[in-house]
Amino acid sequence: MRCRMFGREVASPIVVGSGPASFDADAMIALAKAGAGAVVTKTINLEAAQNPTRHMVQAGAGTLINCEKWSDFPMGRWLDTELPKAVDAGVPVIASVGHTKQDAAACVERIEDLGCLAIELVSYDESTVLPMLEETRRRVSLPIIVKLSPNSPDLVAHARRCVDAGADALTACDSMGPALLVDIETGAPVLGGSDGRGWLSGAQILPFTLEKVCSLRQGLAGIDVPIIGLGGVTTCQAAIQMAMAGATYIGVCSAAILKGPAFVTKLNLDVDAWLSSHGHESLDEICGEVLRHLPQKEASYHMTWDEKTCTRCGRCVRSCPYGARSIDEEGVMRVDAARCRSCGLCVSLCRSLGLA
Ligand SMILES: Cc1cc2nc3c(=O)[nH]c(=O)nc-3n(C[C@H](O)[C@H](O)[C@H](O)COP(=O)(O)O)c2cc1C
Repeated sequence: MRCRMFGREVASPIVVGSGPASFDADAMIALAKAGAGAVVTKTINLEAAQNPTRHMVQAGAGTLINCEKWSDFPMGRWLDTELPKAVDAGVPVIASVGHTKQDAAACVERIEDLGCLAIELVSYDESTVLPMLEETRRRVSLPIIVKLSPNSPDLVAHARRCVDAGADALTACDSMGPALLVDIETGAPVLGGSDGRGWLSGAQILPFTLEKVCSLRQGLAGIDVPIIGLGGVTTCQAAIQMAMAGATYIGVCSAAILKGPAFVTKLNLDVDAWLSSHGHESLDEICGEVLRHLPQKEASYHMTWDEKTCTRCGRCVRSCPYGARSIDEEGVMRVDAARCRSCGLCVSLCRSLGLA
């Protein structure tokens, strides 16, 4: 699904976030061919990163924990080789630059001259973001995206300061943590690095990112700033939720690492199919949909049960903490109204149950 991004028509609203899937020009070209609307480079810094061994491991389905630093290419290689190659091949490149004013000063003009689509500024320390942003704004007219940290003590206030200082868009958010995994055979951390800690990304962080994106939309009401919703999108359903929470574009990183560029093609097709099956022509039409439902009013619900689709598996009976569910000898699901607290758990577990 083609759309506009920073004044350019691009192949889709999918933005591949900074990470190993975009570690060099060839990887970025493959992602663009697969249908990415834009590809963010691995973060460019004055110094090439040195990563510990075991810096990226799976932490449950579709989820990663990593202690990978920024790009292990020196800045010169990006400016002289990788960026020109990717831009010449037609990739809409967002150059990720971190983590200080000095790093930005050393490369942002070259990035603009090379014809990149935008610059994304990222830092581990929130206090360095504004100086980096002001320095970049002074030097280039290219769109500037600020990547926000989910650990920000006041995300909305920080985002507002960034917009006031000239940020054209926001990426929400980065991976979450610090986090730790333990190898139960050795007792050692699963990740390398001196402290064994890393950052969580992928499927398991989706609800956190959705909340951040929604809070940004609520807190920045009236400010028309594009948000790249990045964190936890590994399925079409997650991408649709991300848009409904308020994201303008759909960011993906871990899923593109784990499944390769084909994931981008599939996600694009699946999102397209979902939108048309729900009567929508573009992602814009559902952007921020959840805000229309907030604040929610307390409602009394009537639980429904579809005897045709119920398999009598008994899951609703086992999982009800209040013992309010039972299946009688005729296979009819019974609810003990005196015990039921309308918590909603059974309805979320089974498609034969609903709320009216
Ligand atoms: C192995 C790995 C390396 C990453 N490296 C960077 C990086 O260099 N710069 C950056 O801004 N974000 C980096 N990220 C964070 C991602 O861009 C993204 O914010 C995060 O993974 C959440 O998105 P996801 O849940 O779709 O993976 C990295 C993520 C992973 C998994």
